[in-house]
Amino acid sequence: MNVDDVHHVSVIGAGLMGHGIALEFALGGYSVGVHDLTDQKLTDAERNVRSTVALLAEIGTISGEQAAAGLKRIRFSTDLAEIVGDADVVIEAVSEDIKVKRPLFAELDALCPDRTILASNTSTILPSALAAATGRPDRVLVAHYFNPPHLLPLVELVRHAGVSDQTVATMHALFTKIGKAPAIVQKELPGFIGNRLQFALFREALALVEAGIATPEDVDTVVKTGFGRRYAAAGPFEIWAAAGWDIVLASGENVVANLSTAGEVSHLIRDKVEAGDLGMKTGKGFVEWTPEGIEAAKRRMGQMLITIAQRSQEG
Ligand SMILES: NC(=O)c1ccc[n+]([C@@H]2O[C@H](COP(=O)([O-])OP(=O)(O)OC[C@H]3O[C@@H](n4cnc5c(N)ncnc54)[C@H](O)[C@@H]3O)[C@@H](O)[C@H]2O)c1
Repeated sequence: MNVDDVHHVSVIGAGLMGHGIALEFALGGYSVGVHDLTDQKLTDAERNVRSTVALLAEIGTISGEQAAAGLKRIRFSTDLAEIVGDADVVIEAVSEDIKVKRPLFAELDALCPDRTILASNTSTILPSALAAATGRPDRVLVAHYFNPPHLLPLVELVRHAGVSDQTVATMHALFTKIGKAPAIVQKELPGFIGNRLQFALFREALALVEAGIATPEDVDTVVKTGFGRRYAAAGPFEIWAAAGWDIVLASGENVVANLSTAGEVSHLIRDKVEAGDLGMKTGKGFVEWTPEGIEAAKRRMGQMLITIAQRSQEG
């Protein structure tokens, strides 16, 4: 199927990710069907879609008319067959559990037209495991968003041995068409690209804290106020190209051999989990979290993403 043949998109699972994914396709001009298990979940999803679209209109990334037109293109139903019966593309965003996703993919395979591409927003399950539950592995892949989907453009398209080039090309063109930034992961592997990079950085951050080189707060300050600011504008290959590969070689020779190569998650994290100190959700982790501190941190993070989205819009 070519991107011009895509008219109907279905989103399965209308939680944190699903409602934002559905909204973006609707704003992109597609007719969107949304399915979840209960009427209550769908009522919540509809309310979340409305508040997200209001936020986008308020910050100016869409107009009031675009918001109204987008909302009209979304329909909600607990009847899976009704929602996917005319789907060209399905994006699955149900709970992260292989025991839920695999039977769902088998069911989607049975209910969807032959042409339909089935994509999963899974963060950790490999696409081959989902493709194997269907009779159409060439039309199954992972399309991994980042949260919040309406403010972060990236979608990682993860291939597996059985997916066709046509499916990947169609999904790449589709996401590009609605203003997302698709990046192709050529071979499936845990963490895809984004989470591997985040964990590589965090492994080193934990090693620095464990060795008493810096506190968690100072590590966060280095990232937030230093090199982290560049990352909204340039990736590591661009940043280092600006420095010059000779500089990279010279500094890399001094640093790389000293980096952590720990082959398991630091005991610092295991100790916190065993103590029940889970961070913001329990009020304590590496630091104490008051309700006011949580509110302020979440507001700061959200506001920064909004500012970056507005600036990107201005080009
Ligand atoms: N939250 C994130 O930051 C994030 C980021 C990227 C990817 N993801 C992935 O997106 C997926 C959804 O995550 P979320 O955070 O939106 O979860 P969520 O719990 O907010 O939403 C999941 C929804 O799926 C519904 N659901 C469960 N089983 C279902 C079924 N069989 N049929 C239909 N609906 C069903 C639930 O009722 C719920 O509304 C997961 O695979 C997750 O790994 C999450």
